[in-house]
Amino acid sequence: MKFAVFASGYGSNLQAIIEAVGKKKIQAELALVVADQENARALQRAKDAGIKTQWIDPRKFPERESFDREAIRHLEDHQIDFIVLAGFMRILSGHFIDRYPGKILNIHPSLLPAFPGAQAIRDAFEARVSVTGVTVHFVEEKVDVGPIIRQEEVAISPQDTLECLEEKIHQVEHQLYPKVIELYVQGKIKSPNSHSKP
Ligand code: GRF
Repeated sequence: MKFAVFASGYGSNLQAIIEAVGKKKIQAELALVVADQENARALQRAKDAGIKTQWIDPRKFPERESFDREAIRHLEDHQIDFIVLAGFMRILSGHFIDRYPGKILNIHPSLLPAFPGAQAIRDAFEARVSVTGVTVHFVEEKVDVGPIIRQEEVAISPQDTLECLEEKIHQVEHQLYPKVIELYVQGKIKSPNSHSKP
Protein backbone atom coordinates (compact mmCIF):
# COMPACT_ATOMS: atom_id res chain seq x y z
CA MET A 1 0.00 0.00 0.00
CA LYS A 2 1.14 3.51 -0.76
CA PHE A 3 0.21 6.58 1.20
CA ALA A 4 0.73 10.33 1.15
CA VAL A 5 1.11 12.73 4.06
CA PHE A 6 -0.33 16.25 3.74
CA ALA A 7 1.28 18.88 5.95
CA SER A 8 1.51 22.65 6.19
CA GLY A 9 4.09 23.37 8.83
CA TYR A 10 6.62 22.00 11.25
CA GLY A 11 6.07 18.35 10.44
CA SER A 12 6.89 16.67 13.74
CA ASN A 13 4.11 14.13 13.16
CA LEU A 14 5.45 13.56 9.67
CA GLN A 15 8.85 12.92 11.22
CA ALA A 16 7.38 10.31 13.59
CA ILE A 17 5.67 8.66 10.61
CA ILE A 18 8.87 8.67 8.53
CA GLU A 19 10.70 7.00 11.41
CA ALA A 20 7.95 4.41 11.89
CA VAL A 21 8.04 3.54 8.19
CA GLY A 22 11.84 3.26 8.40
CA LYS A 23 11.54 0.81 11.30
CA LYS A 24 8.75 -1.09 9.49
CA LYS A 25 6.35 -0.21 12.28
CA ILE A 26 4.17 1.09 9.47
CA GLN A 27 4.18 -1.50 6.70
CA ALA A 28 3.31 0.75 3.81
CA GLU A 29 5.22 3.01 1.51
CA LEU A 30 5.22 6.72 2.24
CA ALA A 31 5.34 7.71 -1.43
CA LEU A 32 4.56 11.42 -1.37
CA VAL A 33 4.44 14.41 0.95
CA VAL A 34 2.16 17.24 -0.17
CA ALA A 35 2.30 20.76 1.27
CA ASP A 36 0.51 24.01 0.59
CA GLN A 37 3.33 26.11 2.08
CA GLU A 38 6.53 26.34 0.09
CA ASN A 39 8.66 26.82 3.19
CA ALA A 40 7.01 24.16 5.33
CA ARG A 41 9.61 22.44 7.48
CA ALA A 42 7.70 19.25 6.68
CA LEU A 43 8.83 19.45 3.04
CA GLN A 44 12.46 19.61 4.09
CA ARG A 45 12.01 16.66 6.46
CA ALA A 46 10.59 14.62 3.58
CA LYS A 47 13.39 15.63 1.22
CA ASP A 48 15.99 14.74 3.87
CA ALA A 49 14.41 11.29 4.09
CA GLY A 50 14.44 10.85 0.31
CA ILE A 51 10.67 11.02 -0.03
CA LYS A 52 9.06 12.68 -3.01
CA THR A 53 7.47 16.03 -2.27
CA GLN A 54 4.89 18.18 -3.96
CA TRP A 55 4.24 21.79 -3.08
CA ILE A 56 0.91 22.99 -4.44
CA ASP A 57 0.75 26.78 -4.56
CA PRO A 58 -2.66 27.98 -3.35
CA ARG A 59 -2.19 31.19 -5.36
CA LYS A 60 -2.29 29.10 -8.54
CA PHE A 61 -5.33 27.17 -7.32
CA PRO A 62 -7.32 29.72 -5.35
CA GLU A 63 -10.59 27.78 -5.16
CA ARG A 64 -10.71 24.86 -2.78
CA GLU A 65 -11.84 22.45 -5.45
CA SER A 66 -9.20 23.46 -8.02
CA PHE A 67 -6.50 22.97 -5.39
CA ASP A 68 -7.94 19.59 -4.51
CA ARG A 69 -8.15 18.51 -8.16
CA GLU A 70 -4.49 19.32 -8.52
CA ALA A 71 -3.74 17.31 -5.36
CA ILE A 72 -5.72 14.35 -6.71
CA ARG A 73 -3.75 14.51 -9.94
CA HIS A 74 -0.50 14.06 -8.00
CA LEU A 75 -1.97 11.35 -5.79
CA GLU A 76 -3.14 9.41 -8.84
CA ASP A 77 0.25 9.82 -10.52
CA HIS A 78 1.80 8.15 -7.48
CA GLN A 79 -0.98 5.54 -7.13
CA ILE A 80 -1.68 6.61 -3.59
CA ASP A 81 -4.10 4.36 -1.69
CA PHE A 82 -4.74 6.49 1.39
CA ILE A 83 -3.94 9.91 2.84
CA VAL A 84 -2.69 10.99 6.24
CA LEU A 85 -3.22 14.61 7.26
CA ALA A 86 -0.59 15.83 9.71
CA GLY A 87 -0.95 19.51 10.48
CA PHE A 88 -2.52 20.27 7.09
CA MET A 89 -4.23 23.61 7.55
CA ARG A 90 -6.65 23.50 4.62
CA ILE A 91 -10.17 22.15 4.57
CA LEU A 92 -10.65 19.48 1.92
CA SER A 93 -13.54 19.73 -0.53
CA GLY A 94 -16.34 17.21 -0.84
CA HIS A 95 -14.89 16.34 -4.23
CA PHE A 96 -11.62 15.25 -2.64
CA ILE A 97 -13.30 13.33 0.16
CA ASP A 98 -15.58 11.53 -2.30
CA ARG A 99 -12.53 10.48 -4.30
CA TYR A 100 -10.97 8.86 -1.20
CA PRO A 101 -13.93 7.66 0.89
CA GLY A 102 -12.85 6.28 4.26
CA LYS A 103 -9.24 6.71 3.18
CA ILE A 104 -8.25 9.99 4.81
CA LEU A 105 -7.00 10.10 8.40
CA ASN A 106 -6.40 13.17 10.55
CA ILE A 107 -4.92 13.84 13.97
CA HIS A 108 -6.31 16.53 16.23
CA PRO A 109 -4.80 17.73 19.51
CA SER A 110 -7.86 17.41 21.78
CA LEU A 111 -10.43 14.85 22.81
CA LEU A 112 -12.96 15.57 20.08
CA PRO A 113 -15.74 16.65 20.07
CA ALA A 114 -14.21 18.92 22.73
CA PHE A 115 -12.08 21.77 21.42
CA PRO A 116 -12.31 21.51 17.63
CA GLY A 117 -10.53 24.14 15.53
CA ALA A 118 -7.02 25.41 15.01
CA GLN A 119 -6.19 26.41 18.64
CA ALA A 120 -7.25 23.22 20.38
CA ILE A 121 -4.37 22.93 22.84
CA ARG A 122 -4.61 26.56 23.89
CA ASP A 123 -8.41 26.37 24.12
CA ALA A 124 -8.24 23.35 26.44
CA PHE A 125 -5.54 25.01 28.54
CA GLU A 126 -7.48 28.24 28.89
CA ALA A 127 -10.68 26.37 29.72
CA ARG A 128 -8.77 24.91 32.72
CA VAL A 129 -9.99 21.38 32.07
CA SER A 130 -8.04 18.70 33.92
CA VAL A 131 -7.89 16.29 30.99
CA THR A 132 -7.46 16.87 27.28
CA GLY A 133 -5.80 14.60 24.72
CA VAL A 134 -5.39 13.51 21.15
CA THR A 135 -7.86 12.16 18.59
CA VAL A 136 -7.24 10.29 15.35
CA HIS A 137 -10.28 10.27 13.13
CA PHE A 138 -11.48 9.74 9.58
CA VAL A 139 -11.96 12.93 7.62
CA GLU A 140 -15.37 13.97 6.44
CA GLU A 141 -16.50 17.17 4.86
CA LYS A 142 -17.18 19.00 8.11
CA VAL A 143 -14.07 19.92 10.06
CA ASP A 144 -13.04 17.83 13.08
CA VAL A 145 -16.18 15.69 13.15
CA GLY A 146 -15.39 12.48 11.22
CA PRO A 147 -15.68 9.05 12.87
CA ILE A 148 -13.23 8.73 15.75
CA ILE A 149 -10.69 5.93 15.47
CA ARG A 150 -8.62 6.29 18.65
CA GLN A 151 -8.25 8.78 21.47
CA GLU A 152 -5.68 9.12 24.18
CA GLU A 153 -6.00 11.29 27.26
CA VAL A 154 -3.41 13.77 28.48
CA ALA A 155 -3.76 15.12 32.02
CA ILE A 156 -3.26 18.84 32.63
CA SER A 157 -1.65 19.41 36.00
CA PRO A 158 -1.93 22.75 37.82
CA GLN A 159 1.81 23.28 37.29
CA ASP A 160 1.61 22.88 33.51
CA THR A 161 2.34 25.87 31.33
CA LEU A 162 0.87 25.99 27.84
CA GLU A 163 4.29 25.01 26.50
CA CYS A 164 4.45 21.95 28.80
CA LEU A 165 1.01 20.90 27.66
CA GLU A 166 1.91 21.32 24.00
CA GLU A 167 4.97 19.16 24.54
CA LYS A 168 2.95 16.43 26.29
CA ILE A 169 0.30 16.43 23.55
CA HIS A 170 2.87 16.21 20.76
CA GLN A 171 4.64 13.32 22.47
CA VAL A 172 1.38 11.40 22.61
CA GLU A 173 0.63 12.27 18.98
CA HIS A 174 3.99 10.93 17.84
CA GLN A 175 3.29 7.58 19.51
CA LEU A 176 -0.38 7.28 18.66
CA TYR A 177 -0.49 8.30 14.99
CA PRO A 178 1.99 5.73 13.64
CA LYS A 179 0.22 2.98 15.63
CA VAL A 180 -3.17 3.91 14.22
CA ILE A 181 -1.79 4.19 10.69
CA GLU A 182 -0.39 0.67 10.96
CA LEU A 183 -3.73 -0.67 12.23
CA TYR A 184 -5.36 0.97 9.22
CA VAL A 185 -2.78 -0.57 6.87
CA GLN A 186 -3.53 -3.97 8.38
CA GLY A 187 -7.22 -3.48 7.63
CA LYS A 188 -8.12 -3.46 11.33
CA ILE A 189 -9.79 -0.06 11.16
CA LYS A 190 -12.50 0.86 8.71
CA SER A 191 -14.64 3.92 8.40
CA PRO A 192 -18.25 3.15 9.36
CA ASN A 193 -19.35 5.43 6.53
CA SER A 194 -17.44 3.68 3.79
CA HIS A 195 -17.86 0.25 2.30
CA SER A 196 -14.64 0.52 0.39
CA LYS A 197 -11.59 -1.52 1.25
CA PRO A 198 -8.55 0.43 2.44
C1 GRF B 1 -0.52 18.68 15.54
O1 GRF B 1 -0.74 19.10 16.86
C2 GRF B 1 -1.76 18.04 14.97
O2 GRF B 1 -2.56 17.42 15.93
C3 GRF B 1 -2.49 19.23 14.40
O3 GRF B 1 -1.49 20.05 13.88
C4 GRF B 1 -0.27 19.85 14.60
C5 GRF B 1 0.79 19.56 13.59
O4 GRF B 1 2.08 19.53 14.16
N1 GRF B 1 -3.49 18.82 13.44
P1 GRF B 1 3.31 19.04 13.29
O5 GRF B 1 3.38 19.92 12.03
O6 GRF B 1 3.10 17.61 12.95
O7 GRF B 1 4.52 19.25 14.16
